[in-house]
Amino acid sequence: MNPAAIELKNCTKTFRGKIAVHDLSLTVEPGTVYGLVGDNGAGKTTTIKMLLGLLPPSRGSVSVLGCDPQKDHVEIMKRTGYVSENRELYDWMTVSEILWFNAQFYSTWDNDLVQRTMRSMELNPKQKIKHLSRGMRAKVAMLLAMGHKPDLLILDEPSSGLDPLVRREILEHIIAIIQSEGRTVFLSSHLIDEVERIADRVGILCDGDMMRDESLDAIKETSKRIRVAWNGDMPDPGQFKNVRRIDQSGREEAYFTQCFNDNVLDQFRERHPASLEVEALGLEEIVVETIRAQKHFLKSLEKVG
Ligand SMILES: Nc1ncnc2c1ncn2[C@@H]1O[C@H](COP(=O)(O)OP(=O)(O)OP(=O)(O)O)[C@@H](O)[C@H]1O
Ligand SMILES: [Mg+2]
Repeated sequence: MNPAAIELKNCTKTFRGKIAVHDLSLTVEPGTVYGLVGDNGAGKTTTIKMLLGLLPPSRGSVSVLGCDPQKDHVEIMKRTGYVSENRELYDWMTVSEILWFNAQFYSTWDNDLVQRTMRSMELNPKQKIKHLSRGMRAKVAMLLAMGHKPDLLILDEPSSGLDPLVRREILEHIIAIIQSEGRTVFLSSHLIDEVERIADRVGILCDGDMMRDESLDAIKETSKRIRVAWNGDMPDPGQFKNVRRIDQSGREEAYFTQCFNDNVLDQFRERHPASLEVEALGLEEIVVETIRAQKHFLKSLEKVG
């Protein structure tokens, strides 16, 4: 059996005593796409930096392509493509110069693939990096990350701030890379519809804690909105288990659940509602409600404390 492309075990990262990532465990199988989502400051970039060996975990272990990023940083950089959040590029170079420069570091650099992709991205090889628009910079960053045909592509917000056309283009390249045999993608994104289109597995981080780490299908199967209307007395919403009331208008209520099953529905049915409906949710709504529920929970702990 192939080793996991990525394995984090009980990883915690603290910065001067403040927890950025807490007891995080996750596994990414080779050939799959993992999408990490979460609010600002949730710990996505910190997690990615631990994968690349750019930050040591304070506790726990990290394995990437079977290597320890702290000990085998060079090996990991060789086999991994990385687009950082800030897309640092050498501004004084032209597009063709930066591609040539990057190629020198990799024996596996595929110049034909890079030239073809550059043309399809409509990038001008003679243009200086400092004169590129944000979208063009993102395309160059993507080219630099994929030119050596890495086994693992790590993308930190690859398409934030880009127009929908460029986003699609970048996505298509990601998908093309995945389709070439056995390659793995780990990406963080605030563009959740994008994650929903390409990810096999999704992690939802909130304040350094992993709320969900499951296949996209499992997350969607278990996360539902329940709409209920009552005839007589309204029941106390606190009595229902594994749901959180997210809306109320007169005698109609909406609840969110992350663990949908018959038992969850039965507790409403037992109260004989006037109507009861279950609605499927898109990933974006699921992420928003999951994070809201966690923030609400953390606030309630503060009050008790
Ligand atoms: N070098 C650092 N020193 C101190 N604190 C840091 C450092 N890097 C990150 N943090 C803190 O760790 C937490 C997680 O930050 P991180 O950048 O990983 O979040 P993120 O999920 O990538 O957020 P965003 O969506 O805004 O990019 C934040 O509270 C941040 O302030
Ligand atoms: Mg970040």
